[in-house]
Amino acid sequence: MANVVVGVTGGIAAYKSAPLIRLFAEAGHTVQVVATENAFKFIGKATLEALSKNPVFIVDPELFTDVDQVKHIAISKSADLIVVAPATASFIAKVAAGIADDLLTTTVLAATAPVVLAPAMHTEMWEAASTVQNIKTLKSRNFSIVEPGVGRLTGEDTGIGRLADPEVIFEAALACLSGPLTGYRVCVTLGGTREPIDAVRYVGNHSSGKQGIAFARAAKQLGARVQVISANVDPENLVGLDSIPVQTTQQLQSALLGQLNEIDILVMAAAVADFSLENPSTTKLKRSEIGQSLSLTLSANPDVLKEFIEKAKASSKKILTVGFAAETGGNLEALAKAKLQDKGCDFVVANDVSDGAVFGSSDNSVLLMSENSTSEYQGTKTSVALAVMSELAAKVGGL
Ligand code: CTP
Repeated sequence: MANVVVGVTGGIAAYKSAPLIRLFAEAGHTVQVVATENAFKFIGKATLEALSKNPVFIVDPELFTDVDQVKHIAISKSADLIVVAPATASFIAKVAAGIADDLLTTTVLAATAPVVLAPAMHTEMWEAASTVQNIKTLKSRNFSIVEPGVGRLTGEDTGIGRLADPEVIFEAALACLSGPLTGYRVCVTLGGTREPIDAVRYVGNHSSGKQGIAFARAAKQLGARVQVISANVDPENLVGLDSIPVQTTQQLQSALLGQLNEIDILVMAAAVADFSLENPSTTKLKRSEIGQSLSLTLSANPDVLKEFIEKAKASSKKILTVGFAAETGGNLEALAKAKLQDKGCDFVVANDVSDGAVFGSSDNSVLLMSENSTSEYQGTKTSVALAVMSELAAKVGGL
């Protein structure tokens, strides 16, 4: 089920947002309402809260409060879908111009989820050159516009500009939620596992989890149900994702095996610590007691991906598996091919992490390799993830 943000702006049709919210809530979606102050001239806060079963965010007073929560971005990040109904002419103009001066416009500007706008206004305003141009601009930017209908408007007037029926908006919105991975369940492991040395120190790696998070969000965007297993990632970066937090390789393996019968695709983006201490100290080792050198004896951790693939094959469970190969130097393609065969996975996403350039960065350049195909993708981690997930979506049906 999806996290749906319903924006309500100030027009007489605001009362129709009530049945729309009810449709989403009754279909099992989580609804977060963000309403402008003007919306409350037409509909009560209590109504919106009762129907959405969540506190309503009001636009103006809320943008500059709770600054630490970065609410305008948090709402956007958690959304699988944003629907603004009714969307007034002035709100549409602001969005078209990229103006972000309140909680709703900032939420829409920062959106990575599909945005559906259901305009409602007087005929003259709908047909005004500026509105026509704004709607054209928004359509060219992939906003989905639910065209207004013809009927009674405010006062005695009749004409085009009436908010589409809630059921029509609901259906149009749901259509945006589905994609090539609708019906598929995807597990993304991400971050980096850490093996304790003592109560405060660990053996770990530089993985920020950024690329994995981008894969999880891309899979959601394409319609999948996504389970994240996150190893040592700041929970603030996981807003809107269903995540099982783990620390060690052993914990990652247990969490992943729990997904064996649940998933259709595994994206194994986590950087897994290959070795661990057999008996980490439960208290902090005192430097004064250790002296000038400390020897650690590490023993090999399981190969989580390889063992998972073996178990899936043994149980005849069809799972499309994607391993990652972070390499430094050498022939990337040859190293990726060797990893593909060693792990037994269907795909490997390979990248060159020489000089630590990729860790924590927003950009990436990867090879996506299978036994008989190689594709190259580069750009932001978000665009790379979407491109890779789209290719996987095209292949998963043929498994
Ligand atoms: N992986 C795993 N379990 C491990 C090590 C790695 O499941 N113990 C997974 C990673 O999540 C990744 C893939 O295997 O999807 C390749 O990880 P990488 O660290 O590049 O490879 P290694 O198998 O550790 O091989 P090497 O370090 O020799 O390159």
